[in-house]
Amino acid sequence: MSDIAKGSATLTLEGSNRAAELPMLTGTLGPAVVDIRRLYNDLGIFTYDPGYGGTASCESKITYIDGDEGVLLYRGYPIEQLAEHSSFLEVAYLLLNGDLPTRAEHAEFERGIIRHTMLHEQLRSFFNGFRRDAHPMAVLCGVVGALSAFYHDSLDINNPEHRRISAFRLIAKVPTIAAWAYKYSIGQPFMYPRNDMSFAENFLYMMNAVPAEPFKGSPILTQAMDRILILHADHEQNASTSTVRLAGSTGANPFACIAAGIASLWGPAHGGANEAVLKMLEEIGHVDRIPEFIARVKDKNSNVRLMGFGHRVYKNYDPRAKIMQRTCHEVLGELGIKDDPLLDLAVELERIALSDEYFISKKLYPNVDFYSGIILKAMGFPTSMFTVLFAVARTVGWISQWKEMIEDPLQRIGRPRQLYTGAPRRDYVPASARD
Ligand code: ACO
Repeated sequence: MSDIAKGSATLTLEGSNRAAELPMLTGTLGPAVVDIRRLYNDLGIFTYDPGYGGTASCESKITYIDGDEGVLLYRGYPIEQLAEHSSFLEVAYLLLNGDLPTRAEHAEFERGIIRHTMLHEQLRSFFNGFRRDAHPMAVLCGVVGALSAFYHDSLDINNPEHRRISAFRLIAKVPTIAAWAYKYSIGQPFMYPRNDMSFAENFLYMMNAVPAEPFKGSPILTQAMDRILILHADHEQNASTSTVRLAGSTGANPFACIAAGIASLWGPAHGGANEAVLKMLEEIGHVDRIPEFIARVKDKNSNVRLMGFGHRVYKNYDPRAKIMQRTCHEVLGELGIKDDPLLDLAVELERIALSDEYFISKKLYPNVDFYSGIILKAMGFPTSMFTVLFAVARTVGWISQWKEMIEDPLQRIGRPRQLYTGAPRRDYVPASARD
């Protein structure tokens, strides 16, 4: 039983007169936290929080989410304003450094990133080791992990210059690796990065261009790509970011940590959700079949979820989903797609779900992935590349969070405890006595 007093919370163990006074810490926004670091020393007990839904694992100044109000801020700036007025590299600077850059700082940052877009030529041969039908996330994870074998000159995590150059290398090279993973899967030549293009335009170029023809970009699609990258750039202490921090807390190098983040992002409950949304829409097939599908989702025994709905933190409309919905209409308009059956299905599914008591009572709203799959499919991305694209954007958030953690004087190795429910101590029984 806890009793929150001003500045501290007192935890009293019922049935004993033992109590601990635990300090309360307050941030600039969001709920206060109880500092339980001394709890085990004082009372000999742990806290229990599977999934960490009520636990602040670190102090951070990067991203703030108010899930009840549907608010997302990067370094204090609302995501809507950044999506409307900023660019992905400006947001990258903001997340890494804390403030928006001056024009000179922005130009220098951009020059620094684009100088690192090429891959070591020897890395090309890594791709040949993969089967052609390998999932591009498997390729991305492997090749990003392998970067640490190429950059011995920047692996000292305690050296600020090494941290800076590793961040630049990751932000710049992950799009090249991602695009090459795709080109490899379809048997087309790798396209080398074009440093005269913006970050988003260059990525679309490496994905879509072929050496035999001139490349025609589209400003609307480039802007949509830039916006998608901004929306996915960071999201507080989600599963993949926590994975990066946990791996980094051991002193592992940043390339290895980002590879761990990519592995964590791959799951369908996290970055794999937009791929799952499209599969779900294709499986439903027609608006007439929505009621039957919704009934399956509501059936406790079916294990079917409405993909692209629900979020651990947002119990309101995900602010990114609203921007995605608008972008979706812009992209389909630019591509001249007037009637997209999947979009029609998504809009109707959303309408029905938002008026259904099951979803209302559980506060399940569309998340960022509900519309992103439709946009990416219309732009020509195969579904297997959706999560890869997410990783391209999130690399900025991961490396910003990793850098913040390394620079935090309170940083310790991440080492959770457990509630053990296995067998108590018992003695070994020889096999002959077990029959
Ligand atoms: N469809 C149907 N029911 C759902 C859904 C959903 N998408 N999401 C949650 N619920 C229900 C659960 O069955 C549960 O019901 P119960 O209380 O009757 O048991 C209740 O809502 C709470 O669900 P939890 O799984 O406890 O919520 P949690 O916070 O752990 O899960 C998650 C969040 C994993 C995102 C979940 O909502 C989900 O699986 N959504 C679909 C996958 C998805 O879109 N993921 C993308 C997330 S955004 C991102 O990673 C970029």
